[in-house]
Amino acid sequence: MPSVIEAIQNRSSKRAYLDKPVPKETLEKILTAAAQTPSGANMQPWITYAISNKEVLKDIGDAIIEKMDAGIKYDQFIQYYPVNWVNPYKKRRIITGAGLYKLMEVDRKDNETRIQMWKDNFRWFGAQTVLFVFTEKENINGAQGALIDTGAYMQSIMLAAQEFDIASCPQGSTTEFGRVIANVLNTPENLVLLYSVVLGYEDKEAKINSYQPKRVALSENVTFID
Ligand SMILES: Cc1cc2nc3c(=O)[nH]c(=O)nc-3n(C[C@H](O)[C@H](O)[C@H](O)COP(=O)(O)O)c2cc1C
Repeated sequence: MPSVIEAIQNRSSKRAYLDKPVPKETLEKILTAAAQTPSGANMQPWITYAISNKEVLKDIGDAIIEKMDAGIKYDQFIQYYPVNWVNPYKKRRIITGAGLYKLMEVDRKDNETRIQMWKDNFRWFGAQTVLFVFTEKENINGAQGALIDTGAYMQSIMLAAQEFDIASCPQGSTTEFGRVIANVLNTPENLVLLYSVVLGYEDKEAKINSYQPKRVALSENVTFID
């Protein structure tokens, strides 16, 4: 049984999965644990669609890829990434992306393969379960607290999943097509998609799953005042 610190340090985003469904009762256990995530005023602003239906996942993926192929970059409720990338974040983003492409032997200029790899997000990396996390529109009307809470909920899901040998990949790529997803799922008007998390059994043979981007030293982002 890993310690909490081991679980945090062992988690990494996996991008290739076995064709094996996550049992519903396991999903319920993961989501019950994640429901214990703290939230401001205990508002529990997460509204989750746990989808393991292959056809529905394919429909969502098809709808997003169709938009991408039509040259549409966003159809979203919220903007996840910075509009203006500044350093050191810009540099970290470049290093992280370059590391993945290097591992996969994809040339810097091979745009087609890069796009294909990005589209793999919308084929859920071969996994059979995806959690789509929404919140109520009014929760983020002039306020950001619900985004903090739902972010913590995301990490709880990914840590709890490890208990069942289930790997994960958080997805902001779906945030960018949140309205497309809401449309396919026909969700109530008052919901906004924040992100998704792919859950499944890691393909341990897949080279891409060995990728583990490094973190910067504490001295770069922690200020101790003793
Ligand atoms: C909110 C969020 C959105 C992300 N979106 C994507 C995504 O759409 N596709 C993807 O392959 N990885 C995505 N990632 C994974 C990050 O690239 C990854 O967490 C980061 O590079 C650190 O690697 P690690 O998770 O393996 O430790 C996302 C991570 C977070 C937290």
